[in-house]
Amino acid sequence: MAKNTNSLFFLGVLTSFTLASLPVSGSGEPPLLFTFGDSSYDVGNTKFFSSVFDPATVWPYGDSVDDPTGRWSDGHIVPDFVGRMIGQQEPIPPVLDPKADLSQGASFAMAGAVALGSQSKTVAMNFGEQISKFVEIRKNWTDEERADGVYMINIGADDYLNFAKDHPNANPAEQIALVASVLTRISRELMKLYRSGGARKFAVQNLGPLGCLPIVRQEFKTGESCLEMVNFMVKTHNERLIHLLRAMTVPYRGFRYSFFDFNGEILRRISEPSRHGYTDATTSCCGTGSRNAFGCGYNNVHSKLCSYQKSFLFFDGRHNTEKTNGEIANLFYSGDKNVVSPVNIRDLVVRSVSDLPAQAI
Ligand SMILES: *[C@@H]1O[C@H](CO)[C@@H](O)[C@H](O)[C@H]1NC(C)=O
Repeated sequence: MAKNTNSLFFLGVLTSFTLASLPVSGSGEPPLLFTFGDSSYDVGNTKFFSSVFDPATVWPYGDSVDDPTGRWSDGHIVPDFVGRMIGQQEPIPPVLDPKADLSQGASFAMAGAVALGSQSKTVAMNFGEQISKFVEIRKNWTDEERADGVYMINIGADDYLNFAKDHPNANPAEQIALVASVLTRISRELMKLYRSGGARKFAVQNLGPLGCLPIVRQEFKTGESCLEMVNFMVKTHNERLIHLLRAMTVPYRGFRYSFFDFNGEILRRISEPSRHGYTDATTSCCGTGSRNAFGCGYNNVHSKLCSYQKSFLFFDGRHNTEKTNGEIANLFYSGDKNVVSPVNIRDLVVRSVSDLPAQAI
């Protein structure tokens, strides 16, 4: 039953690009896919983690595919599209699903996950715990499968959003200190994934302009502007993240990556919505409040749902619509060096580690 639903759910992705473009790896099998991060990559881990109500498991989440699965969108998310593009038949399952078929990989991502996990926080499996979990169950896959696999990473957004909420008056020095600790932690975890997990091929997206999220505009009452403090932290984070990845290729032999400028893509859409087919890039499709940004999925909230989801950049206060996710995935997979470097995911998959550039030229 669960498997059937999955296949049906995946059919939508099948139609969105041509099969002719599938990469062929050495073994002829599609590479495995593993994902780590927060709600943007969550495929349902949250609902297995705790009994607290998870709005992403109910309508209107999943509205475009008639199936709310725990994904924070009206349909597929970026790793779903990428999984299909690298040749997988089914979307990878949430690792916490006791019935999950892990043969093609797994998603360890969970809503609310942060890089700097504090002990007291038990609301989510944080980034470090996700990596530990992978290392713990790694024998489900051979060394070779793990070395050929693609590791998609999207983490840090909640660190900055939580900080802005808790310390709205933090000065730039404090903000930069946070960025430094977040990146130290990310680098430590990636090192662990490489050393203990056997990962080699990393696909990392930078953080979007979080200060422009509908939920941030709404809660901080920014009017027509974005919240500068958050965008400043994100900008600093993103600049240092690419340096960090570059630096890691030096001591860590065979460490290769694809770095996607998600931030630039979202900003382009916000500044020229109509060019990208949006009528709205600042308000969410589902929710309530001045930016319609709060409470999607909660039945005690009188939330509104837009009539045409494809014309919105954001589905809820902080997550993209399926339309946006599909475009992002296409660019991540096959975009040129202006958006994804030193190679895109297609090259990352097809080429062997020794044949991949270590740094952008
Ligand atoms: C494989 O994964 C399952 C499910 O998470 C886990 O319980 C099991 O211990 C893993 N097996 C090995 C050999 O790592």
